[in-house]
Amino acid sequence: MLYGIISDIHANLEATIIVKEFFLKKNVEKVIILGDVVGYGVNPEECLEIFDSMDTILIKGNHEEAIITGNYEIFTSDAKVAIEWTGKNLSEKFKKKFSNLKKVVKIEDFVICHGGLPDPLHFYTNSRHKAKLTFERFDFKYCFIGHTHFPMAFSISNNQEIPSIIAQLVYGTIKMMM
Ligand SMILES: [Fe+2]
Repeated sequence: MLYGIISDIHANLEATIIVKEFFLKKNVEKVIILGDVVGYGVNPEECLEIFDSMDTILIKGNHEEAIITGNYEIFTSDAKVAIEWTGKNLSEKFKKKFSNLKKVVKIEDFVICHGGLPDPLHFYTNSRHKAKLTFERFDFKYCFIGHTHFPMAFSISNNQEIPSIIAQLVYGTIKMMM
């Protein structure tokens, strides 16, 4: 199975269209979205409809959670405005769908969640020490996480105490560090 994995679209329709075209070109068989399809951008409905038209697994992000619970006190002021707007403008069809989304899903030999295993919706896996907290909960080979908006990849071997960073976005380019 060839998966196309994406996260934190945040209602960006132009990006969604480009990603869809890329996935179709690469013959992706199943799309995996690591949460936060909504928030910030003004096209949540359109983005969700596009992914609905594909074979997609969507898990819950902190923005989907905020839409269905109405609890967004911990968000930044910009995010609060976006969540209020999205809550008013999103159809009941997708709000209902958000209620049934899972926070952690295991697929074959990997696991997906939005933020990190210590707290699937809100944890920021943005350092080697934070990555360690997710690795400690591993009983699988790989874990795919979104939420930080900063692409990074970590690995750990048996004799390592702290994970290594093996890839990172540097000045707009993914730099491999292996
Ligand atoms: Fe998020």
